[in-house]
Amino acid sequence: MVKIRDNIKEMESYNPPLEGRASKGYLLLDFNEMTIETSLKVKQALHEFVDSGRVQVYPEYGNLNEVVAEYAGCAPAEVLVTNGSDQGIDVVMRAFVEKGDKVVIPSPSFAMEYQSALVQGAEIIKPRYQEPDLSFPTDEVLELLDSSPKLLVLCNPNNPTGGDIPMEHVRRILEKAKEKDVVVLHDEAYFEFSGITALDFIKDFNNLCITRTLSKQFGVASARAGYLISQEQNIREFMKIRGPYDVNMFAATAIRAAISNAEYSRAYIQEVMKYAKPMLEEFFKKHNILFYPSQANFLLVKPADPERVLRILRDEGILVRPRRDVLGALRVSVGTVQDTERFILAYSKALER
Ligand SMILES: Cc1ncc(COP(=O)(O)O)c(C=O)c1O
Repeated sequence: MVKIRDNIKEMESYNPPLEGRASKGYLLLDFNEMTIETSLKVKQALHEFVDSGRVQVYPEYGNLNEVVAEYAGCAPAEVLVTNGSDQGIDVVMRAFVEKGDKVVIPSPSFAMEYQSALVQGAEIIKPRYQEPDLSFPTDEVLELLDSSPKLLVLCNPNNPTGGDIPMEHVRRILEKAKEKDVVVLHDEAYFEFSGITALDFIKDFNNLCITRTLSKQFGVASARAGYLISQEQNIREFMKIRGPYDVNMFAATAIRAAISNAEYSRAYIQEVMKYAKPMLEEFFKKHNILFYPSQANFLLVKPADPERVLRILRDEGILVRPRRDVLGALRVSVGTVQDTERFILAYSKALER
């Protein structure tokens, strides 16, 4: 009899509610994606790749690492391009975590952090984000570093709560973690929206791994494009784990085109963070609807009756993400000003009694 490892048997697969969302023409505010199409440059580059006669050939990356490193602001040898930042998270877990190791994931957090840790057979320790504002439990995390965990996840800003971990706290945590030989995975999926990064710490901390994505801000979630940043000697080890062709040529092509046209993404981010998000916050405040402080392109909202709001929004053609497990809240992505106006109009129907 073949035998699946016990820890895999005990897991559940991660099945986000994805099916059917694209086909029904909804306004998609449920996965923190870009709500507009990716840039014309990215689309043209993908068409050109399809027409290049090289779809049947294995990937050839050229100077992709240099391109990504220059964009990220680090050395090419400190970067590993990955199949989405999901793979970055997975590579780090696979490199460091063995069966029975403790992994600290301040919770709630992003599902794939748990999945990858569980595949390794880790014991997950979950300090909780703190009420009333769901702030990061810094003191508890610092204390937990004394219990010999192998790895600590800092999702900054955190998904689904949206809040950040102040950089001064990150520094204190990194220092203690280094002293205790704990790896710190700093998940920066929302870096471009928040401006928050631990990049400056890379040179001093050999225990630091940063994961980033191009999914959100460049509108290429379907291509699966991300990257990992760490000291060179770590990246050399990670290269043994990532397969030679895990980053497909559609992703590599999209990455180059997106980075060469970063202005498109910057304009979108500016609209989301400077205009649309304050507009949405104002609406929630005006109607006394509880939401949590967020540094990212989404808000965690707690309506009095989330199921009713969810239903009314869906009837109006808008999808948001129910987080019944997090205080019965809804996670709402912020899109353009126009999307936000549409959302506010639809939500207003839920305020009518
Ligand atoms: C915190 C966080 N990390 C990582 C990811 C994964 O991003 P990618 O599409 O690059 O795999 C997400 C996506 O939702 C996320 O929210």
